[in-house]
Amino acid sequence: MAFFEIQNLHVYYGFIHALKGISLTVEEGEIVTLIGANGAGKTTTLRTISGLLQPQEGDVRFNGESLLKYRPHEIVKMGIIHVPEGRRVFARMTVQENLEMGAYVREDKDGIAEDLKRVFKLFPRLEERRGQLAGTLSGGEQQMLAIGRALMSRPRVLLMDEPSMGLAPVLVEEIFDTIKELNETQNLTILLVEQNAHMALQIAHRGYVLETGVITIAGSAQELATNPEVQKAYLGM
Ligand SMILES: Nc1ncnc2c1ncn2[C@@H]1O[C@H](COP(=O)(O)OP(=O)(O)OP(=O)(O)O)[C@@H](O)[C@H]1O
Ligand SMILES: [Mg+2]
Repeated sequence: MAFFEIQNLHVYYGFIHALKGISLTVEEGEIVTLIGANGAGKTTTLRTISGLLQPQEGDVRFNGESLLKYRPHEIVKMGIIHVPEGRRVFARMTVQENLEMGAYVREDKDGIAEDLKRVFKLFPRLEERRGQLAGTLSGGEQQMLAIGRALMSRPRVLLMDEPSMGLAPVLVEEIFDTIKELNETQNLTILLVEQNAHMALQIAHRGYVLETGVITIAGSAQELATNPEVQKAYLGM
């Protein structure tokens, strides 16, 4: 039994068959990346895991239990936390309020205060700007806030949708270093969706290539990085 698992998932938008029977596993403490071009079905996969979309067929399982019978907020409560595409923060709330929103399912006040400290330690820039409205943060700062907010909910599995999108290369490095650090120091399990295969394969343990709703290649990060098809299509070699 895998820690986290997708089995033969089929998802449609009306007549569009967006996911055509994909299967993948993520073990506890692993970073697994799902690489694919625009429209491959990466976001659709994460939205289905989070309970925002219902599959026509297949299953999503966490610790051996199907998640399909749960509603999105219940899935959040189980610790499966989605950092959405385009870093959706609450623009009219302050940085600190956004972070507190991440902990809304929790009741342990002391633990929340402790985690807030930890997020500020991880992202000092957020602490400097704790009173600033989130909508006025730079793109990179908003990405940090989106990750920080997810961490405030004590994730057991973090689902990250293209954290590198729209960021300058230095900031991409910084975000990926942080993801790696969270995995290494907190044994955090991460499913990382990316178009930036170059960065994703540097920090992931394993990966899958998704092409128009079908997984075409699977292997260790090393295997994918040296696979000629991956190099040609996703690494610009
Ligand atoms: N709400 C929707 N209604 C209809 N079709 C949709 C909807 N959302 C996504 N699709 C289609 O499903 C397919 C997969 O989309 P998805 O957003 O999962 O791709 P993606 O891999 O995340 O792409 P990107 O890298 O551009 O974010 C695409 O063909 C897309 O046009
Ligand atoms: Mg997407």
